[in-house]
Amino acid sequence: MDAQRYDARERARALARAAIARGDATGWFEELYQQAAGQVGNVPWADGEGHPLLVEWLALDPARVAGRRALVVGCGLGEDAEQLARAGAQVLAFDVAPTAVDWCRKLWPGTSVRYEVGDLFALPPQWRGAFDFVLEIYTLQALPAQFRAAGMAAMAAALAPGGQILAISRAREATDPPGELPWPLTREELAQFGRLGLAQRAFEDITSAGDPPTRHWRARFERVK
Ligand SMILES: C[S@@+](CC[C@H](N)C(=O)[O-])C[C@H]1O[C@@H](n2cnc3c(N)ncnc32)[C@H](O)[C@@H]1O
Repeated sequence: MDAQRYDARERARALARAAIARGDATGWFEELYQQAAGQVGNVPWADGEGHPLLVEWLALDPARVAGRRALVVGCGLGEDAEQLARAGAQVLAFDVAPTAVDWCRKLWPGTSVRYEVGDLFALPPQWRGAFDFVLEIYTLQALPAQFRAAGMAAMAAALAPGGQILAISRAREATDPPGELPWPLTREELAQFGRLGLAQRAFEDITSAGDPPTRHWRARFERVK
């Protein structure tokens, strides 16, 4: 990890600790984007290109999201939303941080993606059942554990019948310590989508060849009715 990215992660952890201590689990994201002052390198999760596990998944079958109504949760700087749009999806991407949403609009001029400010915990009623595809990358793992089940319920509720959720997160065993932000998820946590009535279509355990190697889940669930 380069020095700028390391510093960005440490700043994010400090902001998150302070916000969570005052009972605000999501307020620190806006602070972080404001303090990043337009520098992508100051946003620890921004990669400029889209998550490699999403890019790979799309490349396996480029037509899989074409023409689908897609919702991107916690879109950050929009790289993943843009990947879906390039693959032919009609994308609505939202984030709780207004500065991130403004940044996306400037970063991707002429995009077909609709970027909106929105809170996963208070989604507009018209988004219920309105999407064929929901993409969640790294938002659940940036929320304290007690908020994740409600976040997953909101994501599931956005699916139309036959719609699918693709979730990508850092992974850990339930017996591993929770670690520091970003808190890797356990298999059991992601399996909550199944308890919400979604059918599990894939659950991959992928360890990258990087140094150090990182372990991820890439899981897909479907609303069958
Ligand atoms: C760790 S970042 C990941 C961003 C992006 N998905 C990525 O992988 O680059 C988590 C994102 O979720 C957003 N977020 C956190 N809580 C949210 C909520 N309740 N509703 C919508 N967005 C939220 C944050 O502002 C942040 O942009």
